[in-house]
Amino acid sequence: MRRIAGGLRVESRSEAGRDSGGSRRGSDASRSAAAAEERPGVSSSTPVPPSSSEVGGRRGPMARPGMERWRDRLALVTGASGGIGAAVARALVQQGLKVVGCARTVSNIEELAAECKSAGYPGTLIPYRCDLSNEEDILSMFSAIRSQHSGVDICINNAGLARPDTLLSGSTSGWKDMFNVNVLALSICTREAYQSMKERNVDDGHIININSMSGHRVLPLSVTHFYSATKYAVTALTEGLRQELREAQTHIRATCISPGVVETQFAFKLHDKDPEKAAATYEQMKRGVGSGLVGRS
Ligand SMILES: NC(=O)c1ccc[n+]([C@@H]2O[C@H](COP(=O)([O-])OP(=O)(O)OC[C@H]3O[C@@H](n4cnc5c(N)ncnc54)[C@H](OP(=O)(O)O)[C@@H]3O)[C@@H](O)[C@H]2O)c1
Repeated sequence: MRRIAGGLRVESRSEAGRDSGGSRRGSDASRSAAAAEERPGVSSSTPVPPSSSEVGGRRGPMARPGMERWRDRLALVTGASGGIGAAVARALVQQGLKVVGCARTVSNIEELAAECKSAGYPGTLIPYRCDLSNEEDILSMFSAIRSQHSGVDICINNAGLARPDTLLSGSTSGWKDMFNVNVLALSICTREAYQSMKERNVDDGHIININSMSGHRVLPLSVTHFYSATKYAVTALTEGLRQELREAQTHIRATCISPGVVETQFAFKLHDKDPEKAAATYEQMKRGVGSGLVGRS
């Protein structure tokens, strides 16, 4: 996985306790699991240039100061079978976390788990097969996590997809696929993760939504319009979550990370009938020519 166009937009939306004296286990954003994508000193809504030790980079274990407190705690990463989710899962296992990685293609996560083990990373990756477009699957996963590992301390809502269904002639089923995973599954996982934290009095948990620059502006590219709408929803959901967490007087954090273009299977799924177009998208971005698929941040 390679990040191509410059940067990410990171919005840390926490804050219930920023001015009220800290949490049971601390509340400094720079010490959070979002360190996987955030860098210290980055303020809200600041575009972040690529890092030399970026998530999933293969530069060996990243000794990040402050990550020790997350050792042995549990992070759920949705969409861990490839792309950004696999990279995030790997980075967290490198930091000693117990990571439940879910997706439909569980064999990919099993391979990654074996890789992490043979690399001697201090954490563990636990593969879980889950179709996030099915609420029963999601609820069963949370219930398995509760019974086998106590609960979720960090929830990274990463799974997402784009289908080439335009507003004027796209299929309803394509829209539903995007809505179910990008919006509904993210909301269900958020609710369940919060409830899991609350019932165990975890006050320093973190919910991280992998958004997109498409959640902040609409490109003149019809095949991305519905996708963009789902990502605008993620922007609103993260802000709504921030407000509700604040009302609940918890120190649990809500963070929104908005990548620009990252070379994964994403465009190949968007253009599944035209893989050459998908490949060209990434090639153009690498050459610095805006393809219009995902803008430069
Ligand atoms: N790549 C980019 O340029 C880019 C830019 C901005 C934002 N993003 C966002 O980053 C996130 C990750 O994208 P990516 O680039 O890593 O894409 P990717 O390589 O296509 O990976 C998508 C992941 O989502 C999972 N997923 C999709 N539908 C699912 C379902 N019904 N149930 C369970 N898991 C499902 C996939 O697993 P299975 O298919 O195995 O189920 C896969 O693990 C997405 O939210 C995307 O919108 C990507």
